[in-house]
Amino acid sequence: MLVLGIESSCDETAAAIVSDKKEILSSTVLTQSEHKNFGGVVPELAARAHLEHIDEIIDETFKSAHIAPQDVDAIAVAAGPGLIGGVTVGVMAAKALALALNKPFIALNHLEAHALVARLGNDISYPYLLLLTSGGHCQILVVEGVGQFKRLGTTIDDAAGEAFDKVAKMLGLGYPGGPMVEKMAALGDDSRFVLPRPLYNSPDCDLSFSGLKTAVRKIVESYAPDGIIEHAIMRKRDIADICACFQKAVADVFTHKLEKAIRYFKTNYPDGQHLVVAGGVAANLYLRSRLQELCDNTKLLFAAPPVNLCTDNGVMIAWAGVEHAIHNMFSDLEFKPRPRWPLDENAPKAAGAGGVKA
Ligand code: KG4
Ligand code: ZN
Repeated sequence: MLVLGIESSCDETAAAIVSDKKEILSSTVLTQSEHKNFGGVVPELAARAHLEHIDEIIDETFKSAHIAPQDVDAIAVAAGPGLIGGVTVGVMAAKALALALNKPFIALNHLEAHALVARLGNDISYPYLLLLTSGGHCQILVVEGVGQFKRLGTTIDDAAGEAFDKVAKMLGLGYPGGPMVEKMAALGDDSRFVLPRPLYNSPDCDLSFSGLKTAVRKIVESYAPDGIIEHAIMRKRDIADICACFQKAVADVFTHKLEKAIRYFKTNYPDGQHLVVAGGVAANLYLRSRLQELCDNTKLLFAAPPVNLCTDNGVMIAWAGVEHAIHNMFSDLEFKPRPRWPLDENAPKAAGAGGVKA
């Protein structure tokens, strides 16, 4: 079985063809450069750029897979959550193809695609514990099966990726911030500045990154003679030290909250074996090494998608499409794009309104 996956919910226009034998036949990703000077994604620019490029990206994907459009068995697309202009462009393209080729259409939750793609390259069975950390979302979940999630905790303010991007902007490192902060952090001293670990001692698995970002802002302001962040005069050394301290604080918070989640997971899902990290921030090698260490200490297996499949791509959509198609989970062509789409909307909540108490 072959599935075409289309992704356009943020600032990547992407498509890929993946088989149920876990082969990637082709993958095309265009990262929009339009947002570089803005420190974040500008929705209107993103939608326009998706519209301009989506047809050529899909053509290129078929061409490099050396197959004809008629050869795929289903068309999958990220139908939300995300920037509605971009999501609509992808959904319209996918519906048009499904209709023209008379193939099943699969409207996917973008977050589910992040959640499942680790299974493409690893032997991971359900259920598994998942840290999903991207630019717009940050959650700890149990993945019980295709379309079945139990949320144990979520960020109450910023997503971790958003915090990486904002810290990078304050330090003049450009967008997207995560990769640059990671690069600078590798050169820095992670004990030089004292930064908070928000919600560290709360009894649940919820997360918060807004206070951490504000604490970084205060440090950067202290380098400006007039307290205006844009006027801060910093040496490369100072920037590297801030990045290292910030990155360590994020990883400390994640590992601490995951310790609680692991206790809950082991008690309630005794067959579960894996902790998986997914989403753009999962590309961070320091975070991956901290999670590997956590798994070694708690006797879980650690898994993550390859770095190039952590940030948005078409492969994750095509693979989630394969998983849906295997279970005959197809969508109606009337499906409307969804700017908001919680992963666990049909699932019963875990103990306590704030998530798991451990
Ligand atoms: O999953 P993704 O591509 O898009 C969303 O669905 O949001 O995630 C993008 C986010 C950005 O905030 C980016 O800064 C972050 O992932 N990111 C990283 C790294 N690479 C990308 N954060 C930390 N370290 C990285 N190496
Ligand atoms: Zn994403």
